[in-house]
Amino acid sequence: MRLWALMHLIPKRHHLRLFFSLKYSSSAKRGGRGGRGGGGAQALRSPRPLCGAPSGELRAQGTLNDASRALLRHRRKRRPAISVPGPRWSSAPAMSKRKAPQESPNEGITDFLTELANYERNVNRAIHKYNAYRKAASVISRYPSKIRSGAEAKKLDGVGAKIAEKIDEFLSTGKLRKLEKIRQDDTSASINFLTRVTGIGPAAARKFVEEGIKTLEDLRRNEHKLTHHQRIGLKHLHFYICRYFEDFEKRIPREEMLQMQEIVLKEVEKLDSNYIATVCGSFRRGAESSGDMDVLITHPSFTSDSSKQSRLLHQVVEQLEKVHFVTDMLSKGDTKFMGVCQLPDKEDGTAYPHRRIDIRLVPKDQYYCGVLYFTGSDIFNKNMRAHALEMGFTINEYTIRPLGVTGVAGEALPVESEEDIFDYIQWKYREPKDRSE
Ligand code: TTP
Ligand code: MG
Repeated sequence: MRLWALMHLIPKRHHLRLFFSLKYSSSAKRGGRGGRGGGGAQALRSPRPLCGAPSGELRAQGTLNDASRALLRHRRKRRPAISVPGPRWSSAPAMSKRKAPQESPNEGITDFLTELANYERNVNRAIHKYNAYRKAASVISRYPSKIRSGAEAKKLDGVGAKIAEKIDEFLSTGKLRKLEKIRQDDTSASINFLTRVTGIGPAAARKFVEEGIKTLEDLRRNEHKLTHHQRIGLKHLHFYICRYFEDFEKRIPREEMLQMQEIVLKEVEKLDSNYIATVCGSFRRGAESSGDMDVLITHPSFTSDSSKQSRLLHQVVEQLEKVHFVTDMLSKGDTKFMGVCQLPDKEDGTAYPHRRIDIRLVPKDQYYCGVLYFTGSDIFNKNMRAHALEMGFTINEYTIRPLGVTGVAGEALPVESEEDIFDYIQWKYREPKDRSE
């Protein structure tokens, strides 16, 4: 999420406080006390919440734009050099919404394309435009050298004349008039923003804004209008803003994902060694950082022919709660759990950030289609589905089915591994690390 948007959620009277808090954190880090246990982190973790300050406390008043610009500068400076294939702007809700685009020589370009993509999806609900911006950002993020002109970018598949024009404008002026306008538009900013709360999609966000519900405070005042899922999302949003502001957009380093995987697999195995569990998503593709943890589980006793077995999911969640790994629930159905987790404190006593985790229970016969789908990337999935169609098959997250001459899908084909799916459509098997597109 763009920080200018985040600022929008917070009552304006607190912007300056937020700004100084970040500044303090940043200079503390520059002074060699980096890490969450350092002075800056202390400031952020202070029990005095940023959003809870009485309004009279702030004498000076910064404008949204001034503060936002400063915040953006601040953020750029402290962004570590990371290299992860492909950017991330999924429509996935909530704390998985904190995903950030990847570092690349063209980060400025991919950042603005991402912002435009989110605007088209959240505010205009123009999915084609959203996909076009995303695709362009994706291909540009993988381009190894610095782009010097729109014409150079236009040679890449997925970058058309209009995007090339925007790139030229950005390269020559350092900004984009269209984005400046969008950022100044109150309705757009509010809609874009509300969609950051788990459970609030573009439609709900627009409805809230039409009702005058635009900020974090508005949401809190109107909690009775929120679903359970949205209420928890709000709680966490508030929590993150007040206590873990810096983590809000942070991705999960692979090192932490490995520790998280170890806990999940160990606890599942402890419950019943017949479970099969896979951590999918970008982690399985070998990414150096991930936006969230996507876990798929199955059990031989659960197939698409058997009746519901929600217990198989719920006992895993309960076990993970028992060991204090899962800290909160956003939603829990028969086959899907969405929640929040946290690694145990570090040896020096400092806490890890809270992270988003999704756990899905999948029937055994659909497991590998699920693993394939949730390993992604979404662009790879799209390409694979297109190839499957050419070969006369339809693939989704559950099954692969042959298409008859009339185009009607037949019975699900038996699948015992991901390789089986590649074999059916006569595609050379690709390891997860080679599935960025
Ligand atoms: P995500 O967790 O949204 O994506 P990710 O794990 O690849 O990236 P991140 O590190 O930012 O979390 O979804 C997991 C997979 O689900 C994704 O890789 C592919 C699949 N997927 C789609 O195919 N289409 C979609 O629209 C979404 C949201 C996911
Ligand atoms: Mg993920």
